[in-house]
Amino acid sequence: MIDSQTLKTLLSFYRDAGVDEVISSRPHNRFCEVEDTLDLAPAASAPEKRIPSPIAPLISPKVAHETAYVAARSAQTLAELKGALLAFEGCALKYTATNLVFGDGNPKARVMLIGEAPGADEDRQGFPFVGQSGQLLDKSLAAIGLTRQNFYITNIIPWRPPGNRQPTPAESEACLPFVQRHIDLVSPDFLVLVGGTATKTLLGGREGIVRLRGSWKDYTSEGGKKMKVIAIFHPAYLLRSPGQKREVWLDLIKIKHTLREAGVELGQGL
Ligand code: URA
Repeated sequence: MIDSQTLKTLLSFYRDAGVDEVISSRPHNRFCEVEDTLDLAPAASAPEKRIPSPIAPLISPKVAHETAYVAARSAQTLAELKGALLAFEGCALKYTATNLVFGDGNPKARVMLIGEAPGADEDRQGFPFVGQSGQLLDKSLAAIGLTRQNFYITNIIPWRPPGNRQPTPAESEACLPFVQRHIDLVSPDFLVLVGGTATKTLLGGREGIVRLRGSWKDYTSEGGKKMKVIAIFHPAYLLRSPGQKREVWLDLIKIKHTLREAGVELGQGL
């Protein structure tokens, strides 16, 4: 019998190690489990049931990317794309996440934002940018008249990486065809990349967010649509480094002017 002090110490150890979520009451060997022994019940509110697969973590990044490409390409609507993601087995993050976090906002909007990956709040609720950094992002965008009625938002990765770690390049690569198809199905005129991961994954190249942020560039989607793209600092970075808020504010003003000139309907803002 473990005494309560030892249990407290153990819990503190887990918390300090980044464990902030209990997904099962007992450990699992993911390499040999079969469907009917899996105790990975989604939260009661989870909109869909995920079928566990012992194979997913073993798919090579190249095969994962190719499988994703074929699946994403065949989706003709956002609902089909969501279905394709639910069936996709090439990203092991799916098996530790509670929910697929697909997208939010207005799918007919001319402005689309793309972040990195869901955090704990997004994983629980199934929507992107609803936690602390999402609230900061919403507030900042509202200041220039952008709300979820006139923008659409998603992430490079639709499943939460455990402990909110950064997605690996292999995970981003596996999910890339889905986000590229997502862009083509929403078909925005303006793309805002939120943070370094989205910027690196979609723009490639050697330059990081510090150099790339703040200026509009031309972007051609996978499907051939021409649009304007701009990168901004991630709100999670601003929460850690509030001194950078000035840069984001300047970027937001630039975004507002460009959208206004292009006739995008903006709310009142500040
Ligand atoms: N950070 C992201 O990049 N995306 C989210 O959905 C939440 C936090």
